[in-house]
Amino acid sequence: MRNFISLKDVESVQDLVNEGIRQKQAPFAEQALGKNKTIGLIFFNQSLRTRLSTQKAAENLGMNVMIMNVGQDSWQLEMEDGVIMNGDKAEHVKEAAAVIGSYCDIIAVRAFAGLQNREADYRELVMEKFRQYAGVPIVNLESATRHPCQSLADLITIEECKKVARPKVVLTWLPHFKPLPQAVANSFCEWVNMTDYEFVITHPQGYELAPEFVGNAKVIYDQNEALAGADFVYGKNWSSYTHYGQVLTQDPSWMITKEKMDLTNNGLFMHCLPVRRNLKVTDEVLDNQSVVIQQAANREWSAQAVLKNILKDL
Ligand code: CP
Repeated sequence: MRNFISLKDVESVQDLVNEGIRQKQAPFAEQALGKNKTIGLIFFNQSLRTRLSTQKAAENLGMNVMIMNVGQDSWQLEMEDGVIMNGDKAEHVKEAAAVIGSYCDIIAVRAFAGLQNREADYRELVMEKFRQYAGVPIVNLESATRHPCQSLADLITIEECKKVARPKVVLTWLPHFKPLPQAVANSFCEWVNMTDYEFVITHPQGYELAPEFVGNAKVIYDQNEALAGADFVYGKNWSSYTHYGQVLTQDPSWMITKEKMDLTNNGLFMHCLPVRRNLKVTDEVLDNQSVVIQQAANREWSAQAVLKNILKDL
């Protein structure tokens, strides 16, 4: 594997899921692969899970790890070409990515959507510029439109927990007062659409995701109807794609409660975290009927599967 920016970089989803499960069983078996290799973890946004799990995975594989928070530890970076750089951005990504690439064998980047300009966000400018100028493989640690390391961990978790060969998986929108990106929801759709799971998406009118991510999933606007018989309930808030970046409703009736989980097939609640308790999902569900900690723990093995695949092709 050269890069891990989106699903397009993956030859076989099933092989990568299996690799993650294998890495979990023998975390230190391939330390020689990363010996004397360095990964740079470059964060334009905050993180708990992604930062720690990727560092741990890289170290499990014997790699050296450098971490930088752009704009705090470094200069702010200009992404657009041809601009007069007389503002607060002191360095262009063209130099920055190339310089970081000269120190690193792999660069992993987190850069969220700005949610101001849909066309610009869906162009994936930051990820594309790093891919263009770094000269080394790029790993997506959540970009404007995707969070593939999370989606791989989600599929590993479903495979570990499923009780039937073809589970019913429901992605449900959850209420929130702040506009959040579509990246986790988009990516989850993209990856689940590669499986043979029964896949349903539910959200209020106006929260339709981009058609290329929805794919063949069934969209049901009635949340209770969608949840009926679900084996997994994947909760996530996202802001509107059609009315880009807007919060159209905060309807609290979309919060996942015990009563909603009672509609499922003794289903398990999933969320990428962080999650706001009793706004998106009740304490009762999170504490008794969820696999969120297992999901977060599996971020280590998803990162390790990805890094292993890149390292072996260096
Ligand atoms: N799920 C996830 O990516 O968590 P962080 O934002 O804390 O990295």
